[in-house]
Amino acid sequence: MQAILASMVDGLVAVDKEGRISMVNRAAEGLFMLQKQHLLGQTFESLLDTPDLHNTIIKVLRTGVEFRVEYNLFPNQENIYRINIVPLKGENDEIEGALAVFHDITDARKFDRMRSEFVANVSHELRTPLTSIKGFVETLLDGALEDKMLCRRFLSIIDSETDRLTRLIDDLLTLSAMETKEIRVNLQNVNLVESVKNVFNIMGPQAEDKNLRMELIYSPQAGWVKADQDLIGQVLINLIDNAIKYSSDGGKIVVRIFNENGKTVIKVSDTGIGIAKESLHRVFERFYRVDRARSRVHGGTGLGLAIVKHIVELHGGEVFVSSQVGVGSTFTFCLPAGDQVSRCAEIDN
Ligand SMILES: Nc1ncnc2c1ncn2[C@@H]1O[C@H](COP(=O)(O)OP(=O)(O)OP(=O)(O)O)[C@@H](O)[C@H]1O
Ligand SMILES: [Mg+2]
Repeated sequence: MQAILASMVDGLVAVDKEGRISMVNRAAEGLFMLQKQHLLGQTFESLLDTPDLHNTIIKVLRTGVEFRVEYNLFPNQENIYRINIVPLKGENDEIEGALAVFHDITDARKFDRMRSEFVANVSHELRTPLTSIKGFVETLLDGALEDKMLCRRFLSIIDSETDRLTRLIDDLLTLSAMETKEIRVNLQNVNLVESVKNVFNIMGPQAEDKNLRMELIYSPQAGWVKADQDLIGQVLINLIDNAIKYSSDGGKIVVRIFNENGKTVIKVSDTGIGIAKESLHRVFERFYRVDRARSRVHGGTGLGLAIVKHIVELHGGEVFVSSQVGVGSTFTFCLPAGDQVSRCAEIDN
């Protein structure tokens, strides 16, 4: 019996007829951060700041009815406990005490909250382009169809809003595939230098529009990683796309690749608007945008960096950001370096 009680993850506390603690298990000692000898004989009223739990225990002792309550026991902690209190009855059905089981439900509550926030965010993101599409279609039906110029303008807005919806849904599907590990990571020796050059080519026109210079600096030994080529391409596109989007005209984007402690480090730096300190730790969250209006102008959904983080972590790497408002930002990620043998072989080829 002792062994079972000691190995329980849930805290277990028995009280006598007066509500005084008569038995605790190890988990309960941890929960109250007090050793057994300091808990025995105490009431919950003397242990906690609020009398709520003590009052519930007294109610169970008086009525003999089982109760289940949820409390945040310690105001300075965020932990929430579900507490099951059952009466302990003697041979002639007399109530001799009660048993309280403390189950930590903090994580479950957090997941519930995250899920509903996620649904609210997705619905909002889907509704915004739909509202605009509907508005323009109605205006067209109301007569704007007759005006060729107007008609063309409205249709092109509808077209770009539809693209936005498609991109949003694609990004969500990518994220969910990565979370459920449905995505197969096809590890190969990837030449990062080539990958970056490719992305520079793709993004070239966008950068030229804003007069941005793009530069690649790499050390000769670095550049090969064991990675999924397509997924790493997606990481680079997302980071360089951000560097372009969040820069003002005439800036500079530098990608650096080097080896450090057996890992390959890739840094994407820009001389753009930067990110305020209080937002830095949130930019990898889904849908988080420092400036919603600005991001939306560019058709952003706030999923790009969440995807980047997932892909890098799928490769066993890490991603960080450092930034200064008005000066620029640097996104750094590292990946396991490619192996020497095949690197040489591929260079020979
Ligand atoms: N290089 C950067 N400079 C300044 N702010 C940035 C930079 N990269 C990201 N951010 C901020 O972080 C937010 C999240 O970036 P993320 O790439 O996830 O979303 P997005 O660019 O808004 O949309 P998309 O889903 O199209 O990428 C951006 O909205 C922006 O506020
Ligand atoms: Mg982005």
